[in-house]
Amino acid sequence: MAGIDAVVLVGGQGTRLRPLTLSAPKPMLPTAGVPLLTHLISRIRDAGVSHIVLGTSYRAEVFSDHFGDGAALGVELDYVVESEPLGTGGGIRNVADALRGDTVLIFNGDVLSGVDLQALLDVHERRRAEVSLHLTRVEDPRAFGCVPTSPDGLVEAFLEKDPNPVTDQINAGTYVFTRTALESIPTGRPVSVERETFPGLLAAGARVAAYVDATYWRDLGKPSDFVAGSADLVRGIAPSGALPGPVGERLCLEGADVATDAEVRGGSTVGRDCRVGAGARVEGSVLFDGSRIGANAVVRRSVLGFGSVVEDGAVVEDAVIGDGAKIGSGVELLAGARVWPSVMLPPGSIRFSSDSS
Ligand code: GTP
Repeated sequence: MAGIDAVVLVGGQGTRLRPLTLSAPKPMLPTAGVPLLTHLISRIRDAGVSHIVLGTSYRAEVFSDHFGDGAALGVELDYVVESEPLGTGGGIRNVADALRGDTVLIFNGDVLSGVDLQALLDVHERRRAEVSLHLTRVEDPRAFGCVPTSPDGLVEAFLEKDPNPVTDQINAGTYVFTRTALESIPTGRPVSVERETFPGLLAAGARVAAYVDATYWRDLGKPSDFVAGSADLVRGIAPSGALPGPVGERLCLEGADVATDAEVRGGSTVGRDCRVGAGARVEGSVLFDGSRIGANAVVRRSVLGFGSVVEDGAVVEDAVIGDGAKIGSGVELLAGARVWPSVMLPPGSIRFSSDSS
Protein backbone atom coordinates (compact mmCIF):
# COMPACT_ATOMS: atom_id res chain seq x y z
CA MET A 1 0.00 0.00 0.00
CA ALA A 2 3.03 2.32 -0.37
CA GLY A 3 2.14 5.67 -1.92
CA ILE A 4 -1.54 5.38 -1.05
CA ASP A 5 -3.27 7.96 1.11
CA ALA A 6 -6.64 7.50 2.76
CA VAL A 7 -9.13 10.33 3.09
CA VAL A 8 -12.15 10.10 5.37
CA LEU A 9 -15.01 12.57 4.91
CA VAL A 10 -16.26 13.50 8.36
CA GLY A 11 -17.58 17.03 7.88
CA GLY A 12 -21.33 16.37 7.77
CA GLN A 13 -23.78 17.70 10.35
CA GLY A 14 -25.44 14.33 10.93
CA THR A 15 -28.93 15.85 11.05
CA ARG A 16 -30.65 12.48 10.92
CA LEU A 17 -28.99 11.49 14.19
CA ARG A 18 -29.98 14.60 16.10
CA PRO A 19 -30.01 15.27 18.99
CA LEU A 20 -26.99 12.96 19.49
CA THR A 21 -25.00 14.96 16.93
CA LEU A 22 -25.57 18.27 18.76
CA SER A 23 -22.67 17.44 21.09
CA ALA A 24 -20.47 15.36 18.76
CA PRO A 25 -20.21 14.81 15.01
CA LYS A 26 -21.66 11.48 13.83
CA PRO A 27 -18.28 9.75 13.27
CA MET A 28 -17.38 10.55 16.92
CA LEU A 29 -20.48 8.95 18.47
CA PRO A 30 -19.65 5.94 20.65
CA THR A 31 -20.36 2.79 18.67
CA ALA A 32 -19.54 -0.48 20.40
CA GLY A 33 -17.54 1.45 22.98
CA VAL A 34 -15.35 3.67 20.76
CA PRO A 35 -16.04 6.51 18.31
CA LEU A 36 -17.51 5.14 15.08
CA LEU A 37 -14.50 6.51 13.19
CA THR A 38 -12.10 4.37 15.27
CA HIS A 39 -13.47 1.21 13.65
CA LEU A 40 -12.81 2.61 10.18
CA ILE A 41 -9.33 3.91 11.05
CA SER A 42 -8.42 0.46 12.39
CA ARG A 43 -9.59 -1.18 9.14
CA ILE A 44 -7.60 1.27 7.02
CA ARG A 45 -4.52 0.68 9.19
CA ASP A 46 -4.95 -3.10 9.08
CA ALA A 47 -5.08 -2.89 5.25
CA GLY A 48 -1.60 -1.32 5.34
CA VAL A 49 -2.40 2.38 4.75
CA SER A 50 -0.78 4.57 7.41
CA HIS A 51 -1.40 8.15 6.23
CA ILE A 52 -5.00 9.23 6.78
CA VAL A 53 -6.42 12.69 6.10
CA LEU A 54 -9.67 13.68 7.80
CA GLY A 55 -11.80 16.14 5.83
CA THR A 56 -13.57 17.98 8.65
CA SER A 57 -16.01 20.86 8.96
CA TYR A 58 -18.79 20.52 11.57
CA ARG A 59 -17.26 20.43 15.10
CA ALA A 60 -13.79 19.86 13.62
CA GLU A 61 -12.03 20.26 16.99
CA VAL A 62 -13.76 17.17 18.44
CA PHE A 63 -11.74 14.95 16.06
CA SER A 64 -8.33 16.48 16.72
CA ASP A 65 -8.93 16.65 20.50
CA HIS A 66 -9.65 12.91 20.53
CA PHE A 67 -7.28 11.44 17.92
CA GLY A 68 -4.36 13.95 17.94
CA ASP A 69 -1.66 12.82 15.51
CA GLY A 70 -3.09 9.28 15.33
CA ALA A 71 -0.05 7.62 16.97
CA ALA A 72 -2.22 5.88 19.59
CA LEU A 73 -3.94 4.01 16.74
CA GLY A 74 -0.70 3.39 14.83
CA VAL A 75 -1.46 5.82 11.97
CA GLU A 76 -0.41 9.29 10.90
CA LEU A 77 -3.42 11.64 10.89
CA ASP A 78 -3.73 14.98 9.13
CA TYR A 79 -6.73 17.29 9.35
CA VAL A 80 -8.08 19.59 6.66
CA VAL A 81 -10.86 21.87 7.90
CA GLU A 82 -13.54 23.43 5.68
CA SER A 83 -14.65 26.72 7.17
CA GLU A 84 -17.84 26.41 5.10
CA PRO A 85 -18.99 22.83 4.36
CA LEU A 86 -18.01 21.94 0.79
CA GLY A 87 -20.11 18.81 0.40
CA THR A 88 -18.69 15.37 -0.32
CA GLY A 89 -16.99 16.27 -3.65
CA GLY A 90 -15.77 19.64 -2.39
CA GLY A 91 -14.43 17.93 0.72
CA ILE A 92 -12.45 15.46 -1.42
CA ARG A 93 -11.00 18.26 -3.59
CA ASN A 94 -10.13 20.30 -0.53
CA VAL A 95 -7.61 17.76 0.84
CA ALA A 96 -5.43 17.73 -2.33
CA ASP A 97 -2.53 19.62 -0.73
CA ALA A 98 -2.34 17.13 2.16
CA LEU A 99 -1.87 14.09 -0.13
CA ARG A 100 1.48 12.44 -0.71
CA GLY A 101 0.81 9.88 -3.45
CA ASP A 102 -1.05 9.63 -6.74
CA THR A 103 -3.71 7.15 -5.66
CA VAL A 104 -6.23 8.02 -2.96
CA LEU A 105 -8.67 5.80 -1.07
CA ILE A 106 -11.70 7.81 -0.01
CA PHE A 107 -14.26 6.85 2.63
CA ASN A 108 -17.55 8.19 3.91
CA GLY A 109 -16.99 8.40 7.64
CA ASP A 110 -20.30 6.84 8.64
CA VAL A 111 -20.12 3.48 6.89
CA LEU A 112 -19.22 0.12 8.45
CA SER A 113 -18.03 -2.36 5.89
CA GLY A 114 -15.90 -5.40 5.35
CA VAL A 115 -14.80 -4.43 1.85
CA ASP A 116 -11.41 -5.83 0.80
CA LEU A 117 -9.48 -2.62 0.15
CA GLN A 118 -6.67 -4.40 -1.70
CA ALA A 119 -9.21 -5.99 -4.06
CA LEU A 120 -10.77 -2.56 -4.71
CA LEU A 121 -7.33 -1.13 -5.52
CA ASP A 122 -6.53 -4.13 -7.75
CA VAL A 123 -9.70 -3.51 -9.79
CA HIS A 124 -8.76 0.17 -10.09
CA GLU A 125 -5.34 -0.74 -11.45
CA ARG A 126 -6.47 -3.58 -13.70
CA ARG A 127 -9.17 -1.46 -15.32
CA ARG A 128 -6.79 1.52 -15.64
CA ALA A 129 -9.59 3.58 -14.11
CA GLU A 130 -9.62 7.23 -13.15
CA VAL A 131 -12.08 6.52 -10.37
CA SER A 132 -13.25 3.20 -8.90
CA LEU A 133 -16.18 2.64 -6.60
CA HIS A 134 -17.11 -0.02 -4.14
CA LEU A 135 -20.67 -1.13 -4.92
CA THR A 136 -22.72 -3.27 -2.60
CA ARG A 137 -25.84 -5.31 -3.31
CA VAL A 138 -28.90 -4.52 -1.20
CA GLU A 139 -32.16 -6.42 -0.81
CA ASP A 140 -34.35 -3.40 -1.50
CA PRO A 141 -32.56 -0.96 -3.80
CA ARG A 142 -35.63 1.32 -4.15
CA ALA A 143 -34.44 3.50 -1.28
CA PHE A 144 -31.10 4.18 -2.98
CA GLY A 145 -29.74 5.54 -6.22
CA CYS A 146 -28.40 2.51 -8.12
CA VAL A 147 -25.30 1.96 -10.22
CA PRO A 148 -25.50 -0.40 -13.22
CA THR A 149 -22.25 -1.80 -14.60
CA SER A 150 -21.12 -3.31 -17.91
CA PRO A 151 -19.93 -6.94 -18.22
CA ASP A 152 -16.33 -5.68 -18.15
CA GLY A 153 -16.84 -4.00 -14.76
CA LEU A 154 -17.21 -0.36 -15.77
CA VAL A 155 -19.90 1.91 -14.35
CA GLU A 156 -22.58 2.75 -16.92
CA ALA A 157 -24.74 5.25 -15.05
CA PHE A 158 -25.65 6.78 -11.71
CA LEU A 159 -29.41 6.50 -11.46
CA GLU A 160 -31.67 8.33 -9.03
CA LYS A 161 -34.02 6.44 -6.67
CA ASP A 162 -36.59 4.51 -8.69
CA PRO A 163 -39.59 2.30 -7.76
CA ASN A 164 -38.32 -0.21 -10.36
CA PRO A 165 -34.53 -0.15 -10.10
CA VAL A 166 -32.56 -1.79 -12.93
CA THR A 167 -29.97 -3.28 -10.55
CA ASP A 168 -29.51 -4.00 -6.84
CA GLN A 169 -26.01 -2.45 -6.87
CA ILE A 170 -25.64 0.78 -4.91
CA ASN A 171 -22.79 3.15 -4.17
CA ALA A 172 -21.23 1.92 -0.90
CA GLY A 173 -19.34 5.13 -0.12
CA THR A 174 -15.72 3.96 -0.63
CA TYR A 175 -13.80 5.14 -3.69
CA VAL A 176 -10.38 5.18 -5.31
CA PHE A 177 -9.41 8.38 -7.14
CA THR A 178 -6.31 9.15 -9.16
CA ARG A 179 -4.89 12.49 -8.15
CA THR A 180 -5.77 13.88 -11.60
CA ALA A 181 -9.44 12.92 -11.18
CA LEU A 182 -9.46 14.44 -7.70
CA GLU A 183 -7.94 17.68 -8.98
CA SER A 184 -10.60 17.92 -11.70
CA ILE A 185 -13.26 18.64 -9.04
CA PRO A 186 -13.97 22.40 -8.96
CA THR A 187 -12.69 24.38 -5.98
CA GLY A 188 -14.25 27.10 -3.87
CA ARG A 189 -17.86 25.90 -3.88
CA PRO A 190 -19.88 22.98 -2.55
CA VAL A 191 -19.85 19.91 -4.80
CA SER A 192 -21.67 16.60 -4.32
CA VAL A 193 -19.51 13.67 -5.40
CA GLU A 194 -22.61 11.50 -5.90
CA ARG A 195 -24.76 13.99 -7.81
CA GLU A 196 -22.17 16.06 -9.68
CA THR A 197 -18.68 14.52 -9.80
CA PHE A 198 -19.53 10.93 -10.73
CA PRO A 199 -22.15 11.72 -13.38
CA GLY A 200 -19.82 14.43 -14.74
CA LEU A 201 -16.94 11.98 -15.06
CA LEU A 202 -19.13 9.53 -16.99
CA ALA A 203 -20.44 12.29 -19.25
CA ALA A 204 -16.85 13.28 -20.00
CA GLY A 205 -16.02 9.69 -21.00
CA ALA A 206 -13.81 8.89 -17.99
CA ARG A 207 -13.16 5.26 -17.05
CA VAL A 208 -15.08 4.62 -13.82
CA ALA A 209 -14.64 1.07 -12.55
CA ALA A 210 -16.74 -0.91 -10.08
CA TYR A 211 -15.81 -3.42 -7.42
CA VAL A 212 -18.96 -5.28 -6.39
CA ASP A 213 -19.01 -7.52 -3.35
CA ALA A 214 -21.38 -8.96 -0.79
CA THR A 215 -19.44 -8.45 2.45
CA TYR A 216 -20.87 -6.69 5.48
CA TRP A 217 -22.05 -3.15 4.71
CA ARG A 218 -24.17 -0.62 6.60
CA ASP A 219 -24.51 3.15 6.49
CA LEU A 220 -25.04 4.31 10.08
CA GLY A 221 -26.64 7.64 9.13
CA LYS A 222 -30.04 7.07 10.71
CA PRO A 223 -30.95 5.91 14.23
CA SER A 224 -32.19 2.42 13.31
CA ASP A 225 -28.97 1.73 11.39
CA PHE A 226 -26.84 3.30 14.10
CA VAL A 227 -28.14 0.91 16.76
CA ALA A 228 -28.08 -2.07 14.37
CA GLY A 229 -24.50 -1.30 13.27
CA SER A 230 -23.30 -0.97 16.85
CA ALA A 231 -24.96 -4.28 17.76
CA ASP A 232 -23.35 -5.94 14.71
CA LEU A 233 -19.93 -4.77 15.92
CA VAL A 234 -20.53 -6.08 19.45
CA ARG A 235 -21.67 -9.44 18.09
CA GLY A 236 -18.76 -9.70 15.65
CA ILE A 237 -20.99 -9.53 12.55
CA ALA A 238 -19.41 -6.25 11.44
CA PRO A 239 -15.60 -6.42 11.19
CA SER A 240 -13.44 -4.14 13.34
CA GLY A 241 -9.95 -4.17 14.77
CA ALA A 242 -10.98 -1.76 17.52
CA LEU A 243 -13.60 -3.51 19.63
CA PRO A 244 -12.73 -2.81 23.29
CA GLY A 245 -13.74 -6.29 24.51
CA PRO A 246 -14.59 -9.80 23.36
CA VAL A 247 -17.47 -10.21 20.87
CA GLY A 248 -20.73 -11.42 22.39
CA GLU A 249 -24.30 -10.55 23.24
CA ARG A 250 -23.23 -7.48 25.21
CA LEU A 251 -20.28 -5.19 25.76
CA CYS A 252 -19.92 -3.67 29.23
CA LEU A 253 -17.29 -0.95 29.61
CA GLU A 254 -15.28 0.05 32.68
CA GLY A 255 -17.37 0.93 35.70
CA ALA A 256 -20.63 -0.36 34.21
CA ASP A 257 -22.86 -1.82 36.91
CA VAL A 258 -25.49 -4.26 35.67
CA ALA A 259 -27.85 -5.88 38.22
CA THR A 260 -27.47 -9.64 38.27
CA ASP A 261 -31.06 -10.24 37.20
CA ALA A 262 -31.06 -7.58 34.49
CA GLU A 263 -31.08 -8.95 30.94
CA VAL A 264 -28.72 -7.16 28.54
CA ARG A 265 -28.42 -8.69 25.08
CA GLY A 266 -28.74 -8.36 21.32
CA GLY A 267 -25.33 -6.69 20.97
CA SER A 268 -26.08 -3.91 23.47
CA THR A 269 -23.30 -1.67 24.73
CA VAL A 270 -23.33 -0.51 28.36
CA GLY A 271 -21.01 2.50 28.54
CA ARG A 272 -18.58 3.55 31.24
CA ASP A 273 -20.15 4.09 34.67
CA CYS A 274 -23.65 3.22 33.43
CA ARG A 275 -26.11 1.54 35.76
CA VAL A 276 -28.74 -1.00 34.78
CA GLY A 277 -31.23 -1.75 37.57
CA ALA A 278 -32.80 -4.98 38.82
CA GLY A 279 -35.06 -6.75 36.36
CA ALA A 280 -34.35 -4.27 33.56
CA ARG A 281 -34.25 -5.52 29.96
CA VAL A 282 -31.92 -3.97 27.38
CA GLU A 283 -31.90 -5.27 23.81
CA GLY A 284 -29.85 -4.14 20.81
CA SER A 285 -29.25 -0.70 22.35
CA VAL A 286 -26.40 1.73 22.88
CA LEU A 287 -26.00 3.27 26.33
CA PHE A 288 -23.55 6.17 26.22
CA ASP A 289 -21.30 6.69 29.26
CA GLY A 290 -22.96 7.58 32.54
CA SER A 291 -26.53 6.73 31.52
CA ARG A 292 -28.84 4.95 33.93
CA ILE A 293 -31.71 2.52 33.56
CA GLY A 294 -34.01 1.93 36.53
CA ALA A 295 -35.50 -1.29 37.86
CA ASN A 296 -37.78 -3.21 35.48
CA ALA A 297 -37.35 -0.65 32.70
CA VAL A 298 -37.24 -1.91 29.10
CA VAL A 299 -34.95 -0.40 26.44
CA ARG A 300 -35.02 -1.81 22.91
CA ARG A 301 -33.17 -0.70 19.75
CA SER A 302 -32.53 2.74 21.28
CA VAL A 303 -29.69 5.12 22.00
CA LEU A 304 -29.34 6.69 25.44
CA GLY A 305 -27.21 9.84 25.37
CA PHE A 306 -24.47 10.69 27.89
CA GLY A 307 -25.81 10.85 31.44
CA SER A 308 -29.43 10.25 30.45
CA VAL A 309 -31.84 8.46 32.77
CA VAL A 310 -34.66 5.99 32.15
CA GLU A 311 -36.50 5.59 35.44
CA ASP A 312 -38.09 2.48 36.93
CA GLY A 313 -40.60 0.69 34.74
CA ALA A 314 -40.30 3.03 31.75
CA VAL A 315 -40.38 1.52 28.24
CA VAL A 316 -38.16 2.96 25.51
CA GLU A 317 -38.30 1.44 22.03
CA ASP A 318 -36.75 2.65 18.75
CA ALA A 319 -36.00 5.98 20.42
CA VAL A 320 -33.13 8.43 20.72
CA ILE A 321 -32.65 10.05 24.13
CA GLY A 322 -30.49 13.18 24.22
CA ASP A 323 -27.64 13.76 26.68
CA GLY A 324 -28.85 14.33 30.24
CA ALA A 325 -32.54 13.79 29.43
CA LYS A 326 -34.73 12.01 31.96
CA ILE A 327 -37.58 9.62 31.13
CA GLY A 328 -39.89 9.40 34.16
CA SER A 329 -41.01 6.10 35.61
CA GLY A 330 -43.81 4.42 33.70
CA VAL A 331 -43.40 6.56 30.57
CA GLU A 332 -43.65 4.66 27.28
CA LEU A 333 -41.58 6.12 24.52
CA LEU A 334 -41.98 4.34 21.20
CA ALA A 335 -41.48 4.29 17.46
CA GLY A 336 -38.92 6.86 16.47
CA ALA A 337 -39.35 9.20 19.44
CA ARG A 338 -36.52 11.65 20.06
CA VAL A 339 -35.99 13.45 23.33
CA TRP A 340 -33.83 16.57 23.28
CA PRO A 341 -30.92 16.96 25.74
CA SER A 342 -31.82 17.70 29.37
CA VAL A 343 -35.59 17.39 28.74
CA MET A 344 -37.46 15.76 31.65
CA LEU A 345 -40.50 13.66 30.80
CA PRO A 346 -42.55 13.44 34.00
CA PRO A 347 -43.63 10.05 35.39
CA GLY A 348 -46.88 8.58 34.13
CA SER A 349 -48.03 6.19 31.50
CA ILE A 350 -47.97 8.63 28.61
CA ARG A 351 -47.02 7.38 25.15
CA PHE A 352 -44.75 9.58 23.11
CA SER A 353 -44.24 8.56 19.55
CA SER A 354 -42.99 11.76 17.96
CA ASP A 355 -40.38 14.41 18.65
CA SER A 356 -40.53 15.89 22.13
CA SER A 357 -38.13 18.74 22.54
P1 GTP B 1 -27.22 13.82 7.52
O1 GTP B 1 -27.27 15.30 7.79
O2 GTP B 1 -27.95 13.03 8.55
O3 GTP B 1 -27.60 13.45 6.12
O4 GTP B 1 -25.70 13.32 7.71
P2 GTP B 1 -24.33 13.88 7.05
O5 GTP B 1 -24.27 15.35 7.25
O6 GTP B 1 -23.21 13.09 7.66
O7 GTP B 1 -24.47 13.58 5.50
P3 GTP B 1 -24.19 12.23 4.71
O8 GTP B 1 -24.57 11.06 5.57
O9 GTP B 1 -24.79 12.33 3.40
O10 GTP B 1 -22.61 12.28 4.53
C1 GTP B 1 -21.84 11.18 4.11
C2 GTP B 1 -20.42 11.36 4.63
O11 GTP B 1 -19.86 12.56 4.06
C3 GTP B 1 -20.36 11.53 6.14
O12 GTP B 1 -19.24 10.84 6.60
C4 GTP B 1 -20.23 13.03 6.34
O13 GTP B 1 -19.49 13.36 7.50
C5 GTP B 1 -19.47 13.47 5.08
N1 GTP B 1 -19.85 14.81 4.66
C6 GTP B 1 -21.09 15.26 4.33
N2 GTP B 1 -21.04 16.54 3.98
C7 GTP B 1 -19.74 16.94 4.07
C8 GTP B 1 -19.05 18.17 3.85
O14 GTP B 1 -19.63 19.20 3.50
N3 GTP B 1 -17.70 18.17 4.04
C9 GTP B 1 -17.02 17.06 4.45
N4 GTP B 1 -15.70 17.13 4.64
N5 GTP B 1 -17.65 15.89 4.70
C10 GTP B 1 -18.99 15.83 4.51
